[in-house]
Amino acid sequence: MLTQIQTEQFKIKYLQTLGEINEQEVSLYEDIKEGLNQRPKRLPSQYFYDDHGSELFEKICELPEYYPTRTEASILNQYAEEIAEITGTCELVELGSGSSTKTRLLLDAYEKKNNVFKYMPIDVSAGILKESAIQLQQEYTSLQIEGLVGTYDQALSQLNSTSCSARMIFFLGSSMGNFKPDECDRFLDKITQVLSKGNYFLLGIDLQKPQSILEAAYNDSQGITAAFNLNMLAHLNDKFQGNFDLNSFEHQAVYNQEKKQIEMYLISKKSQEVTLKNLNVKVDFQEKERMLTEISRKFDLEQIAEQLESKQLNTLKVFTDPNNWFALILCQCSK
Ligand code: AVJ
Repeated sequence: MLTQIQTEQFKIKYLQTLGEINEQEVSLYEDIKEGLNQRPKRLPSQYFYDDHGSELFEKICELPEYYPTRTEASILNQYAEEIAEITGTCELVELGSGSSTKTRLLLDAYEKKNNVFKYMPIDVSAGILKESAIQLQQEYTSLQIEGLVGTYDQALSQLNSTSCSARMIFFLGSSMGNFKPDECDRFLDKITQVLSKGNYFLLGIDLQKPQSILEAAYNDSQGITAAFNLNMLAHLNDKFQGNFDLNSFEHQAVYNQEKKQIEMYLISKKSQEVTLKNLNVKVDFQEKERMLTEISRKFDLEQIAEQLESKQLNTLKVFTDPNNWFALILCQCSK
């Protein structure tokens, strides 16, 4: 299914069904069934981001405890012009664009250089993508915007070759930290696949730091992260005619020192059975059973640079903040 909204300069393509799914589409959601059959149970993190989830995430970004967004923005603020200078890009592709707030720092820098170009935001949340594309179009009137609503995989498979010789894909917010190491490996393969020689990849990653800072960032005092975590259940209820009771689960986020990752769980407060009618799923929870909804890995700069190089993504420059809490890696594809 593929629909489209289009005006002169502005186009949004939908690579997936909005709202409730129908019987023919059940097989597209095997990942949910698989996750619920694992122990501990787990759910794919992409289901955080229905429209309400994206709004909650925007609120998380403003929380005093949640340092990543603000730190990354400060790095971009300082170095966007240098990035524009080095890359001279005419086409920007953003994975997980959300509200495109940090993107503006890059767009401003490219605009100053007078590069003619196209911006392709990619997000699973249709509402926020459309809203921010409309907003951006008003602010950057000569920008050609071509949005894709879908998962990273769906969108990357759609990226065809471009006449722009300096395309840059960028992936901010350390969202790559949501992938397990093997998923991360496959993801980077895919990035290399869709880039041509000389194209750029700009990657934002959250770095290792003391446990207390990390755990505070994912257990904020206003309970917004808890609401964000629980909203995944509301999203699944809407999309699959489910009956998760949000009052019967609670949020937990802990740092796993060994794996260097935050792990977010939903804990069942009682023994209960849940159904997702449209997926033909019936699942039992025990009292205090934990279900993993997200990992957020914290990276070692040298390790990740090595991994990127093994994918023919060579580091041109690393930009970081004075505390070394977050990094932006600018790579160029050599294959
Ligand atoms: C945007 C996916 C990188 O892992 O820090 C924020 C999501 N989860 N608070 C992160 C998130 C809980 C965020 N990412």
